[in-house]
Order: sequence, then C-alpha cells, then structure tokens
Amino acid sequence: MNRERMAGRFITVEGGEGAGKSSNLAFIRELLERAGREVLFTREPGGTPLGEEIRGLLLGHRDDGMSADAELLLMFAARAEHIARRIAPALAAGTWVLCDRFTDASYAYQGGGRGIGPERIRTLERLVQGGLRPDLTLLLDLPVEQGLERAGARSAPDRFESEQRDFFERVRAAYLAIAAREPERVRVIDASRPLPQVQADIARVIGAFLAEEG
Ligand code: TMP
Repeated sequence: MNRERMAGRFITVEGGEGAGKSSNLAFIRELLERAGREVLFTREPGGTPLGEEIRGLLLGHRDDGMSADAELLLMFAARAEHIARRIAPALAAGTWVLCDRFTDASYAYQGGGRGIGPERIRTLERLVQGGLRPDLTLLLDLPVEQGLERAGARSAPDRFESEQRDFFERVRAAYLAIAAREPERVRVIDASRPLPQVQADIARVIGAFLAEEG
C-alpha cells in the first residue's frame, strides 16, 4: 500500500441554521464506521481544549461586540490548533476525519455574512492550512426562512444565531457560490425535504465517495 492510500480522508459538513447538521453528521459517521473506516468526529470552532475555549469566546454574547477581523482570526487560531493537534495526525495515521464545519464556514460567515474580502480569508487559509483542504464537503442547504423556523424551536440563540435574516441570506449565498465553483468537492444536499429523503441523498454521496476512495 502506498502512502497516499494509507492516508485518511477529510470530510466536512456545512450548512446554515436549522439545516439538520447534527442528526445528519451522526448518520454520516455511522455510514463510514459501518464501511469499516476509523473515524475522528470533531467540530469547528473547537475540537481541542484551546479550540473549545476560543469557541466560547466566539459564540458568547458580549456587550462590546467583536470586530470582524478579530472574529476571523479567532476562527483561524482555533483551526490552527485543531489541525496541529488532531486533524493532521489523524489523517496521517489513516483515520478518516469527519468535521462539523471547516474553512468554508469562514468564507460563508466572515466573508459573506460580515463582508470580509475572500482574498483576506485565503491568506489565512494558506498560512494555517498549507495544502490541507477537505476531500469532500456536504452542504446541507435550505431556505433561510425554513432554517430559522426550525432553529427557533431550540434553546437560547448564541452570538451568530442572533443575527438578522439578511445575514443568513448572505451566508447561504456564499456557501452556494463555493459549491458552484467547486462542484467536485462540494455536494449540495437539499435539506428542506423530510429527513429520510435527505439521508437517502447523503448515503448516495458517501457511498460513491467510499467506492472511489477505497
Ligand atoms: P455550530 O453552531 O454549527 O456549531 O457553529 C458555530 C457557529 O460558528 C455557527 O454559527 C457558524 C460559525 N462559524 C463561523 O462563523 N466561521 C467559521 O469558520 C466556523 C467554523 C463557524
């Protein structure tokens, strides 16, 4: 077996509020494990002790707000730690990594949502990740209105969830623009439908990826 074959694969899941990320992540993890892959299941921002502390800073409400650049840099600080401590070692050991959000979320939320130019985000992406990019990304997409209705049924909104509807419209548009640019890597799943239909699509995408990637 050559080195390339031994390396794990890096799968990320993205989506707006109320897209059903949690239940679908659990479903994907089960599909991968049933196929015999060892899976590191993790999330961003977070995934390490320091990263989870940074997550607390990012998601917590603050009276003094947070500048868009500070938010972006904290996302990438957590990501640097996550890659160094968990993602890169796992992939090198042949473990598959399933991550709840990654850098596409920075392009969508800090880029689309907050209006930071993509070239600034790309600079940090190169600095922090080198050549590391997800092998496959599932984008759970649904209309903002429907997502907010679903999410509204949950507990107290965090700092991002408290944003206005137009913020989430920009996030969604930015995600869809990434998918249009990189259709091979980013598969759009119509998450507005009932869960069994969404999961049937996910199972098809993951099944095809497993068949290709071995
Ligand atoms: P979660 O609620 O899906 O766990 O994600 C936490 C929040 O962090 C979510 O509102 C999206 C946001 N986020 C960014 O704004 N930029 C990023 O790079 C990441 C990873 C998440």
